Amino acid sequence: MRSTLRELSDRVAAAMAALGLEGDPLVRPSTDPRFGDYQSNCAMGAARRAGGTPREVAEAILGKLDVADCCEPPDVAGPGFINFRLTPAFLARSLGRVPTAGEPGAERLGIDRTDHPTVVVVDLSSPNLAKEMHVGHLRSTVIGDCVARILEFQGHHVIRENHVGDWGTQFGMLVAYLRRTRPNVLDDLDRLVIADLEAFYVEAKSLFDRDEAFKKQSQETVVRLQRGDAETLRIWRAFCNESLRHCHAIYERLNVSLIDRGESFYNDLMPQVIDRLMRDGHARESDGALCVFCDGFQTREGAPLPLIVRKSDGGYNYATSDLATIVHRIETLGARRVIYVVGIAQKLHFDMVFAAARKAGWAGEGVALEHLGFGNVLSASGAPFKTREGGTVKLKSLMDEAVARARSVLESGGVIAAAGADEDAAADRPATGADAARAGMTSQEMDDIAETVGLAAIKYFDLQHNLVKDYKFDLDTMLALDGNTAPYMLYACARVRAIGRKAGIDFDSFCPEGGLVLEHPAEIALAKSLLRFAETIDQAAADLRPNVLTDYLYDLSKQFSRFYDRKQGVRVIDAEPPGVRVSRLRLCDLTARTLKLGLSLLGIRTLERM
Ligand code: ARG
Repeated sequence: MRSTLRELSDRVAAAMAALGLEGDPLVRPSTDPRFGDYQSNCAMGAARRAGGTPREVAEAILGKLDVADCCEPPDVAGPGFINFRLTPAFLARSLGRVPTAGEPGAERLGIDRTDHPTVVVVDLSSPNLAKEMHVGHLRSTVIGDCVARILEFQGHHVIRENHVGDWGTQFGMLVAYLRRTRPNVLDDLDRLVIADLEAFYVEAKSLFDRDEAFKKQSQETVVRLQRGDAETLRIWRAFCNESLRHCHAIYERLNVSLIDRGESFYNDLMPQVIDRLMRDGHARESDGALCVFCDGFQTREGAPLPLIVRKSDGGYNYATSDLATIVHRIETLGARRVIYVVGIAQKLHFDMVFAAARKAGWAGEGVALEHLGFGNVLSASGAPFKTREGGTVKLKSLMDEAVARARSVLESGGVIAAAGADEDAAADRPATGADAARAGMTSQEMDDIAETVGLAAIKYFDLQHNLVKDYKFDLDTMLALDGNTAPYMLYACARVRAIGRKAGIDFDSFCPEGGLVLEHPAEIALAKSLLRFAETIDQAAADLRPNVLTDYLYDLSKQFSRFYDRKQGVRVIDAEPPGVRVSRLRLCDLTARTLKLGLSLLGIRTLERM
């Protein structure tokens, strides 16, 4: 299946070409349904370039345009917009082509893969080790995973790299500190747990900040580590293993997979990077440090702003390892696109590193380097997110809290209350936790549902926000059963599945005969929404914006509610004649499958019941 938007774009492009007109067909979904489903704004630019008024150009394009198989005859509106309205016959034909259960491509709803697959590296999560993951790592992990899933779905080869901070002063500091104060810990590294490591880190850091001699000792230890001293490496490895064990317990719960390839991985590559920069004259000394100067970067005073790639003490820094990372990703992994999912606070760092990589010729025109920056997570009150003691909030405790809250929402039967607003829905509502408890669902089963709902709520809430904006972490809002939330979406999915059960149909093996019948406005609106899924994925991938997908899924579930509503919509289970009933059940099935696939691209598992 192709996206309708791409289909119309190709048709307009063909009409323009037939007239010798250049430019983009500029087809977009209409913002106002009164003007149809799609519109093309190409006539303005084409008229500017080729002469004539935009309306004349638009009329000329219409003369050459062949869309009779999909649209009502298009018209020209306003200064020269071309409006398209899809016909029910086209909707029925397109949706009718979506493979049914068991047919090839059914799990991807028949959506085409890209014709130009590339190697994409997504740099995600990437916490600094020796500390527990905190709330700040949530976004990078969840957004990075979603972007990776969308690009994988399109058919790209995605490599997900966890660029952990495992190689810096903090490790020298920790080793030096334990040697000095708790040598017994070093004798029994197997017993080390992340909480101890974090506590030692805090103590070590405080000593580091007030004791010059200790600071010096720490720095010497880092040098020993980087030179490969066996004993220091042994301790360092134990620290990293324990930290990563903790991180992976979180990734597993979040269902995020990635490869650990932290800063230490590039240790041997960094000197080569420096050599290449010097050999080719791209770096020069300034105040004892080796720097790259790129056009367009200035200090506040207007002086050239250096990117330091080797400190005056000879050590490498964050920029050096990121340059080595770029070299590895492009030259060894063959990446054509590298996406860094890192907070917007690091924008300048990435702008400068990318500019240096371009200057050095490592990233040519065919390679995209993109910093996908995101805003902060704030507390529910809007203040910076801190514990009562002023510490950072641990990601694990936030996840646990969301799961516990999800369980109490389910137990209190909140889902029933939400569904009660719509009589018909209440009649067909899926079993809820409260029912389940009565129906003898085990405590383990309840826990599993709460785990899925609680973590889905955190993810969905994060992804549903505009990336660059800060947002408030508000459990009440994200666990609400109505609104643009995970519980609402999961509930919508479970509800459609329940309709299948009530109709005596197993959607997992549903292979309906006969075509789709689209007559009622609610049926047509739902069909249009279903057909927009393919282009929504294209758009979310092109802009790297997960909220394009959440907005779509929310809209789809609202269209479904209208379709299924007793007053505004149509009968389904008891619809007559049988052909109409099957067609409507098929729309239910398509809705459930679209929601399920869409949520899976957000990294969210659906539930049969909740
Ligand atoms: N470890 C870094 C931090 O916590 C983030 C690393 C992001 N990735 C990168 N290639 N620089 O700030």
